[in-house]
Formats: sequence, C-alpha cells, structure tokens
Amino acid sequence: MLLFEETSLANLTIKNKIFRAATSETAANENGDITENLIDFYRKLAKGGTGLIFTGHMYVEKEGQYAPYQVGLTEHNNLNRLRDLVSAVHEFNVPIIAELSHCGSQTMMSDVNTKAPSVLPNLIYGNQPFELSEKEIAQLINKFKKSASIAMLAGFDGIHIHGGNGYLISQFSSPITNRRKDRWGGTSDNRNRFFLEIYKAIRKEIGPNKFISARVGIKDVQPNGLSKNEGVDRVKILQNLGINAVEPTFNLMNTYRDNIKPFAGNSRLKSFLSGTFIFDKLKIQNHQEGYYLTLCDELRLNGVTIPKILVGGVRTLTFMEQVLLEKRADFFALSRPFIREPNLVEKIKLQKTNQVACVSCNMCFKHEGYHQTQCWRTNISSIIRHLLFSLRHSLNN
Ligand SMILES: Cc1cc2nc3c(=O)[nH]c(=O)nc-3n(C[C@H](O)[C@H](O)[C@H](O)COP(=O)(O)O)c2cc1C
Ligand code: SF4
Repeated sequence: MLLFEETSLANLTIKNKIFRAATSETAANENGDITENLIDFYRKLAKGGTGLIFTGHMYVEKEGQYAPYQVGLTEHNNLNRLRDLVSAVHEFNVPIIAELSHCGSQTMMSDVNTKAPSVLPNLIYGNQPFELSEKEIAQLINKFKKSASIAMLAGFDGIHIHGGNGYLISQFSSPITNRRKDRWGGTSDNRNRFFLEIYKAIRKEIGPNKFISARVGIKDVQPNGLSKNEGVDRVKILQNLGINAVEPTFNLMNTYRDNIKPFAGNSRLKSFLSGTFIFDKLKIQNHQEGYYLTLCDELRLNGVTIPKILVGGVRTLTFMEQVLLEKRADFFALSRPFIREPNLVEKIKLQKTNQVACVSCNMCFKHEGYHQTQCWRTNISSIIRHLLFSLRHSLNN
C-alpha cells in the first residue's frame, strides 16, 4: 500500500503518509509553557503511529497569541519543557514540526492590542487593530526567526509556517486587509514580502538542510480578495527559495467553518445520525472528502513540484490511496479525526477500519481556548457537558 511505504521528506524519514495536522491544544499553562497534559497528549499521538506531527500553532510573541492556553515559542517560554515534549514524541520515531504563527487581528484574547497591516476591523472577531510600522514589521520577522531558533534548540525536526486561515501572514497577503502604500502593500510583490521575508529569515537561521514547510493561503473566500493565480505564484516563489513542502488552504475566511468544514466526508445519513445538525441551524451541510484537493491540483498543474500535503476533510483509506495513485497529493494531514482517535493510523494499518470515527461535527473546535482539545461525543456525560457549555457561551463561529 502506497500509504504505508516508508519515504523521505527533505531530511526526514517518514514511516507513513498520514500526518497529524496542526491542531491547537488549549493545554499550555497561562504563560504558554508546556504542561504534563500536553506531553501526554502528544505521546499518545506519536504512539498511535502517525507519520509526522505538526504541532498546534505556537505564537512568536505574546501579542500574537490567538487563544488562551496556547503554546508560546518565545524566549520567555521554558526551553526544557519544550525539550520534554519533543523527546516524548521522538521516543516513537515520529518527526515533530513546530507550527509558528502570529494571529494579527484574528484573536480571542481580550487583553491584547492587536496588530495588522492596516486599520480594518477583523473579519471574524471585529477587533480593531493598530497599523504596524515598518520598524515593527522588521521586529516581527525577527521574532519568527528567534522562535525558529528556539525550536531547533528544543530539538524540533523542522518548522511549519502558518501562512493561511486569516492570521497575520494572510492579512498581509490579501488586498482586502492590506491597504498599505509602502513596500509591504499594494502590488502582489509587496503583499508577498512579509511571508517571503519570514521564510528567508527562518531558512538562514536554521540552515539549508532543515525541513521547512508552510500552510499557504492560496485564495480568499471573498470574491474580491486574493486570487488563486496570485496564491499559486506565491507558492512557486517559495519553491524557488527552497521550501520543502506546501499545505494549501484558504487565505482570508468569513468564519472558521470555511476551513474547518462541518460534516466533511460524511454521507448525508451519517451527518443526520450524528444529531448535531439540530444545533447547527437545522442544516446538514455535507462537504466533500478532501475539500482542498482542487487547490493541490492547481499547484500541480501550474508547475509546483515540491510535495503537497492535503489537509481538510480527509476521511478514508480508499480516498487517500486513490489520491496517491493519481499523484494528486503526496501526504495527508488530518486534524479532527486524530482528536477522536489518536491511534487512528494503527487502526487503519491493521485494517480495522477504512473510515475515521470522527463525524466532523465541530463540537471540539467550539471549546478552543476554554477546555483541552478533545472529542466531546465519546460518551453521554461529555455530550451533556458540551450542551451546558454551549448554553453559557456564545461560541466561536
Ligand atoms: C480544534 C482545532 C484546532 C485547530 N488548530 C489549528 C492550528 O493550531 N493550526 C492550524 O494550522 N490549523 C488548525 N486547525 C485546522 C486544522 O489543521 C485543519 O485545517 C481543519 O480542521 C480541517 O482538517 P480536518 O477536516 O482533518 O479536521 C484546527 C482545527 C481544529 C478542529
Ligand atoms: S467533537 Fe469529535 S466527532 Fe466532533 S469533530 Fe470533534 S473529534 Fe470529530
């Protein structure tokens, strides 16, 4: 089976092609340091046989924090605890890649002065940001570089740059959120600059042989925003600069559901039986399995030859094998399925299942920043706790 053939990805040896997608954990302490819970969480994932782990996004400065209890990767964070996390994963010979991010104006934190390329309310949270000065932009690029260097000291196997889904890099990339008139805005080259400078700074810092990949926002959900052609060209530039792999996704979004699509890859019957549609405005919105596959196709057909990691609604062994056979993507990154079944890969490998148990109801996502990431539909008591929580909180959507 192609899925389980050992392969290499840049300098990494990969035992299978099913990766754990970056998934924030809500399990750090208030300072953003690694806790025992977090180490256990990652140990379970590594033991479960995944080919590679992308961490949840780690902020490069406190003002770039998206949610409470998010992990920080700054000089103020405890290096030894980061090392403990990496060692727990390495025990099972699984590479672990640190996802670096800055939320810009897209944050749940209430006590932060948010920053963005231009002074426009955030599309999802409505936060009103300050406009970054050129000096501050240079400092931020330096912070990405510093975080990458800390990640190397902690023993991470590489860096994944979060360049999509509405966070700061996306805000620079899109003509909707970037209205600057200086060298950081306006033309496509100028809007690319922030992303490219971050990549170059990290590459210089960690050397030519270390693995660097990126989640890249290829196009905005909004029709007047970043175009697909521009997004594809950006990946080609990153490829020429030596990036090792790309994970295509949306750039700006109107809601988290644009990226974390409910009921992805389910049959209508399975979605209906999940019962969750009752709390979803009575709608069953099925989304096709592997809903970013067309973005991988766009990259492939337009000269992107570096490995493409397909994220978003990947749910069955049959689908993954078919995509590999047709050479439409090289690796798969799954998020919600691993929340429900950290040992998913072992199960698939032993042919105990073809389809993941997760029904993509998004109950787990709604607790981000409040409770440690977990599946809330494994038993009746969790479901009741989820319902009580839903009544008390106006949840992210
Ligand atoms: C609880 C939760 C947390 C997430 N945190 C991150 C994150 O830290 N970084 C990131 O790039 N994507 C994050 N995502 C998005 C996932 O990586 C993925 O793109 C999305 O869930 C679609 O994949 P799936 O259908 O396999 O879940 C998160 C998703 C969920 C459900
Ligand atoms: S709550 Fe469970 S079933 Fe629902 S999306 Fe999250 S992991 Fe999947």
